[in-house]
Amino acid sequence: MKRCSIMRYIALIPAFVYAIGCGQIDPPPPLDEDGEPVPIPEPLDDWLNFLEIVPEEELSVRPTITIAFNAYLDPTTYDSYSTARLQSGGLRHGSRVDYRMTRREIHFRPTSDLEPELQYELVWTADDVRSVTGSPLHPRASLPTFMIRDDLETSPPLQRPEVSWREVEELFEAHCTSCHGDSRWSQLPMLTPETLIGARSDQVDAMLVEPFHPARSYLMHKILPDYPVRRFTEQPPPWSDQPPLSTDDIERIEHWIANGAPHP
Ligand code: HEC
Repeated sequence: MKRCSIMRYIALIPAFVYAIGCGQIDPPPPLDEDGEPVPIPEPLDDWLNFLEIVPEEELSVRPTITIAFNAYLDPTTYDSYSTARLQSGGLRHGSRVDYRMTRREIHFRPTSDLEPELQYELVWTADDVRSVTGSPLHPRASLPTFMIRDDLETSPPLQRPEVSWREVEELFEAHCTSCHGDSRWSQLPMLTPETLIGARSDQVDAMLVEPFHPARSYLMHKILPDYPVRRFTEQPPPWSDQPPLSTDDIERIEHWIANGAPHP
């Protein structure tokens, strides 16, 4: 018995090291009315949660707020117009959001100017939002309030950097086409606009590239190393001699898809 509890402490050491090393500690489990922890519904391994919200405390009259999550979002469980809102008393502002999948962030911007000197509450309105593994939002996940200041710089409309097909092709040439393009691997899809855009995956019921929707594009699910839902392995495969894509490279491919996958 004693040995068992010592083992338990030893087993907890990596968790402490992780918590100290990363400066992030999981929120306490939510409690029911009797103060008992609410069990996490099976088969979830974690709640969905907000990790970081920027800026803190003060906003310009037209800000962009970045909300980072601990997990990838299921794109069918929220939409870009009714995900969150800023409100001050009865005053409510419409908004637009853009899900930056690679960074697991939502970029949120109101569509009209906020009132200076008022305090606004950020309210999450997509009640059924889930992670791609089906985890619901932590019941105690809370969003901040902000003071609006008219001397802070406003943000430009939500927009993605432009990425050309040529840039995406260069990434594929450096990391992928030694296999996807080698006649000995003829069962693998070529990585061209024609074989990617609107084309079905052989592995799952999804398009490889669905223009304007990176989160629904199986190509993204295959190249994000820690994406939890896909068949077989990440790309390039860890066993290959091809260098992995950097996070910036992956984000560039995401921007290309989000801009409609333009190509000549
Ligand atoms: C070493 C050879 C190799 C390299 C390099 C490689 N792949 Fe693959 N790829 C495979 C194999 C083998 C499969 C099938 C098994 C799997 O999915 O793990 C595959 C599967 C895929 C699929 C799924 C196709 C489908 O029909 O669903 C996509 C998408 C993909 N690769 C994209 C890429 C991209 C993008 C790169 C470069 C960033 C890349 N691959 C690099 C060998 C490779």
